[in-house]
Amino acid sequence: MQAGSMEEFAEITVEAVIETFEIECSAFFTYDKLENCLKVKGKFGFEADQMDCQLDSDWIDSRSISKKGNVIIENGSPDSGFMKSMGLSQVIISPYHDDNSKLDGILMGGVTEGKKGYYDEISKELIPSFMVFTQQMSSQLQNFEAKRYLNEKVQRRTTEVVKQKKEIEEKNVVLEDQKEELHSMLDSLKLTQSQLVQSEKMASLGQLVAGIAHEINKLIESIKNGTERTTQIVNGLRTFSRLDEDVLKVADIHEGLDSTLILLRNRHKNRIEISKDYGEIPLIECFPGQLNQVFMNILSNAIDAIEGVGVITISTSKSNGFIQINITDTGSGMPEHIKAKIFDPFYTTKEVGEGTGLGMSISHGIIEKHSGSIKVLSESGKGTKIIINLPLTQKKIAE
Ligand SMILES: Nc1ncnc2c1ncn2[C@@H]1O[C@H](COP(=O)(O)OP(=O)(O)O)[C@@H](O)[C@H]1O
Ligand SMILES: [Mg+2]
Repeated sequence: MQAGSMEEFAEITVEAVIETFEIECSAFFTYDKLENCLKVKGKFGFEADQMDCQLDSDWIDSRSISKKGNVIIENGSPDSGFMKSMGLSQVIISPYHDDNSKLDGILMGGVTEGKKGYYDEISKELIPSFMVFTQQMSSQLQNFEAKRYLNEKVQRRTTEVVKQKKEIEEKNVVLEDQKEELHSMLDSLKLTQSQLVQSEKMASLGQLVAGIAHEINKLIESIKNGTERTTQIVNGLRTFSRLDEDVLKVADIHEGLDSTLILLRNRHKNRIEISKDYGEIPLIECFPGQLNQVFMNILSNAIDAIEGVGVITISTSKSNGFIQINITDTGSGMPEHIKAKIFDPFYTTKEVGEGTGLGMSISHGIIEKHSGSIKVLSESGKGTKIIINLPLTQKKIAE
């Protein structure tokens, strides 16, 4: 038996009853436990539209229906409301049950009053075969329901999977969008960063101008030493202005440090002792202008940190593939909460006009660009040590 819906199943069943037992009418009911009601699913030969019936109603002895394997033949007694309402003279009723012997429904065959031609009277010999038929129908019904349940489950699962797939696809679209957004944000960040580098460069140059003007005035005063100092300052400016070249070169770090010190001389001389402890280090591949800016930022901070007299020690050394530059000052040092923010852009403890708060963040960016590292050791009241490590060579990756 192939049936897609319960209605089809019921229809096939009642037709089979009619054919098999050659009786006039048949109906197939399922039992609704919640409503304690027999509901007609399929019928043949009955005129009545409304055949559902409450089990506790007056029609057939509901106790006998509930018992397993009981087949009843009623001979149209006048008290039987159901038979009367159906216009039946005789009826054969076979209940079927679930695995727990609970009523599942009934299968019914009947003969109407006045209609002849089939059996006038339902033969008692029909009982065993009607029972067997009902039993078989019942197990087919169980198979059918199990299959239908499974089909529904498969259907639901399929719907779910399709839905999930759609959701994933939608999420992918969103992710793709976000990726693009991130890319363009990164681009604009890169632009901002290079603009920041530019503005910090202008700020440091501004600070220098005053010092240099002063130096030059002094030089004019003492022409005798003038030639040497002028050369130093001009060379220093030349080195510092390499900022603009921004090309990868093999450069001498000591030269960069010295030029920077010369440019800062006006801010540290007579007050701060500069102690150099330069080691044997090779030339390194770098962007020299940018590294000079790092030295300028760090040495400026060191000078700012020393109130009155103090010492700035610069030491360099080489160790497997890297050079190390340490810049130590005997200045104010930093408490933990300032140290934690030192690389944040625009973080400054200086007066408006004195600090941009960009020096360390830009320095960090430059060192990172060189695949190096920058570390800060500092303690409030005890001075500060900046440790920079730079590789000897740069990987040639286009930016
Ligand atoms: N050597 C140092 N000693 C003490 N504090 C420092 C030192 N270097 C940096 N700092 C602190 O870090 C802050 C940020 O430095 P920086 O980014 O160069 O900005 P700016 O110098 O413009 O304030 C400084 O304002 C200062 O508080
Ligand atoms: Mg600074």
